[in-house]
Amino acid sequence: MKEANTETLFWNESSREANDSVVKEFIFIGLSDSQGLQIFLFAFFLIFYVGIVFGNLLIVMTVTYDSHLHSPMYFLLANLSFIDLCLSSVTAPKMIADFFRKHKVISVHGCFAQIFLLHFFGGSELVTLIAMAFDRYVAICKPLRYTIIMRGNVCAGIVATAWATGFLHSVSQLAFAVNLPFCGPNKVDSFYCDLPRVIKLACADTYRLDIMVIANSGVLTVCSFVLLIISYSIILTTIQRRPSDRSSKALSTLTAHITVVLLFFGPCIFIYAWPFPIKSLDKFLAVFYSVVTPLLNPIIYTLRNTEMKTAMRRLRQWNLNFWVNS
Ligand SMILES: *[C@@H]1O[C@H](CO)[C@@H](O)[C@H](O)[C@H]1NC(C)=O
Repeated sequence: MKEANTETLFWNESSREANDSVVKEFIFIGLSDSQGLQIFLFAFFLIFYVGIVFGNLLIVMTVTYDSHLHSPMYFLLANLSFIDLCLSSVTAPKMIADFFRKHKVISVHGCFAQIFLLHFFGGSELVTLIAMAFDRYVAICKPLRYTIIMRGNVCAGIVATAWATGFLHSVSQLAFAVNLPFCGPNKVDSFYCDLPRVIKLACADTYRLDIMVIANSGVLTVCSFVLLIISYSIILTTIQRRPSDRSSKALSTLTAHITVVLLFFGPCIFIYAWPFPIKSLDKFLAVFYSVVTPLLNPIIYTLRNTEMKTAMRRLRQWNLNFWVNS
């Protein structure tokens, strides 16, 4: 009798585990099964990631060490580069390391860490992009008051706000997702964890959570995007009424900004706010978002910006002198 009891107890225990939250790890399906394509993608991502690390670090170092570039616009640019580097490092290294693994495993904790960091850096990047637009707006539309409005303190405050916003956004969103039970399939059809996909795997009614994600990430991205488009339109129309020599330089800076904005928000809006996700496109956009956009930022800014190029030349000279003299 007693034995039977323990047996039922044991059986109940294991069956409850089977029904409840038993998933301890997720498995990424990755981008492709084909061996040849894997090697190509591996090389592609490795090169891109190395480019991201070097390019963005170069911008951060140039702005930090060159006193000619100690102005709000370049401080914000350096901050953007730093965030880009972090954002890409959340997903890319794991993806690259996973390419030749048969089972691309990530623990549930690791998965949620990825989601947290992704939204933390993503939120900070979003505010930084808005701050860059504001900075250009003041510089072009209110040039006489620029030095008063964009004081050092204000710039530091903006940067702090960006990080705080990223943190609040990420926490407020994850708070509703960390306790989800996972008991069923554990295959994530992607190469990193993000909320829309992970929520789908939970064995609970996630309807309200889906709405939450759209309300938080989706509305945030769409509103910021509209705000940015409006501010750049105002700036562009202001420039149009100016004599053309000064305005062509401003125009080239603005084109760089607008390109970055479009590349950041396009995939974001599609992933979080588009009601009819298309699976393959989703994955492609995720690639874009994690390795292409963070690389384009340094490329766009360094190729188009003469001051940046001159500063980098100075930095190289300075470095050479330093090594030769010491
Ligand atoms: C970010 O901006 C702040 C405030 O202007 C600046 O002091 C800091 O050096 C910047 N960070 C980077 C990584 O350049």
